[in-house]
Amino acid sequence: METLSLTVNGVRQEITCDPSTPLLYILRNDLGLTGAKLGCGLEQCGACAVMIDGEATFCCNRPVGEITEKDIVTVEALSNDPVGAAVQRAFLAEGAAQCGYCTTGIVVAATSLLKENPAPDRNAIVVGLEDHLCRCGSHARVIAAIERAAQELANG
Ligand code: FES
Ligand code: FES
Repeated sequence: METLSLTVNGVRQEITCDPSTPLLYILRNDLGLTGAKLGCGLEQCGACAVMIDGEATFCCNRPVGEITEKDIVTVEALSNDPVGAAVQRAFLAEGAAQCGYCTTGIVVAATSLLKENPAPDRNAIVVGLEDHLCRCGSHARVIAAIERAAQELANG
């Protein structure tokens, strides 16, 4: 066990843990941030995505000991970001979730995508989200939500 310092949603946290513990478990079990979900646990579904240094990252297999110097933002704080807030409004407006299990990871990915490419065409959205699975088949509404968020942001 080691005591590690993490910056999560702008707050410095001291966590005593095995440094090989995946970040997702620390977020959910130690910090009570349950927005990121455990789906596959194998970096193959996207349910666990969080921002690490501004980039959407799957954290179900990412040892927390490797992330101590980085800035971690979870979906719980994404509305503090104008792009993240626009994405969340658009997901609500389009009803872009069914069970919602995949949704937080997709919202994180969509925010990252729009920060990198504020005007993605449909193909860029599909490619940007291709690592995120949705078993409910909400893909069409997710794409519509991302297009809506991009439009809202472009309109200022
Ligand atoms: S739970 Fe991390 S990618 Fe599936
Ligand atoms: S909304 Fe259910 S898995 Fe995507």
